[in-house]
Amino acid sequence: MIGFIGAGAMGSAIIRGAIASGTYKAAEIVLTASTPEHAQTYASELGTEYANTAADVVRRCGKDAIIVIAVKPYAVPTVLHEIRAVAAEQEAVLLSIAAGTTLDSLAIHLNPGQPIVRAMPNVAASIRQSITALCPGADVTDSQASEAERLLSSVGQVIRIAEKDFPTFSALAGCSPAFTLTYIDAMARAGVKNGLSKKTAVRIAAQAVLGTALLSLDAVDEPAGSPMDLADAVQSPGGTTVAGIIALEDAGFGAAVVRGVQAAIDRDIELQQS
Ligand SMILES: NC(=O)c1ccc[n+]([C@@H]2O[C@H](COP(=O)([O-])OP(=O)(O)OC[C@H]3O[C@@H](n4cnc5c(N)ncnc54)[C@H](OP(=O)(O)O)[C@@H]3O)[C@@H](O)[C@H]2O)c1
Repeated sequence: MIGFIGAGAMGSAIIRGAIASGTYKAAEIVLTASTPEHAQTYASELGTEYANTAADVVRRCGKDAIIVIAVKPYAVPTVLHEIRAVAAEQEAVLLSIAAGTTLDSLAIHLNPGQPIVRAMPNVAASIRQSITALCPGADVTDSQASEAERLLSSVGQVIRIAEKDFPTFSALAGCSPAFTLTYIDAMARAGVKNGLSKKTAVRIAAQAVLGTALLSLDAVDEPAGSPMDLADAVQSPGGTTVAGIIALEDAGFGAAVVRGVQAAIDRDIELQQS
């Protein structure tokens, strides 16, 4: 069995992914939410089991199960206090996806030695295209970490990183969807300026971004596979693309992206310290 404390946007996305990929059967999943009524509604939508409280979820899952903590960061301490004793008794592996919530800040609400995994999916988990960071705590065994990775792989790619790199990861994976949508919208605006409907322009720009991202991923391990190598290969001498690239750089495009990512990293660190 596997437990979910919280079945909102991200909890539900992971549950749907786990079921669709065959990683877990719906009947092997127990969830809860802020009220038993909400839990019952989510369970009937998703086809899973439900429990009235977070502690009941851990109890129902039995020994050595993964319990996903999928509540908003401010609700995490309350949930951990509620499950502290039963999580220790059941030797549960707690998998927190709470943004900006470190392993140390989770551990202070739990018994010493409780296995905790920290993970960070992104919004594309809802279409099973997340890039998810994973960092197992010191008390997590290899097989427990692998099981957490198997679960999160059902909503996309998983990458193991050191915990110190979470702010950078969050900016590159968590904030960048908004950055990329801003880019797609600006591209579409240029299309509208030149006579396309907004809908058509968005469809063209978004598909171009998707195809380019797939090309970049495909080439990432190649000797000449950096994004700039790929961009060089499509700039004909004296052509349209190089003219566009020069205009973008003249407007500060590359530096603006680096500044945007850095601002997100700095803000993440600032929030963790406050
Ligand atoms: N959404 C994203 O793109 C994203 C990306 C990365 C990480 N995350 C992280 O994922 C976590 C969940 O975010 P979300 O967007 O899924 O939030 P959400 O949609 O608000 O869902 C939160 C869930 O927690 C439940 N809940 C609240 N208090 C509870 C309690 N005391 N006991 C049991 N359940 C409780 C809520 O129940 P009700 O439905 O009954 O209110 C709801 O099902 C957050 O920590 C967030 O940082 C989210």
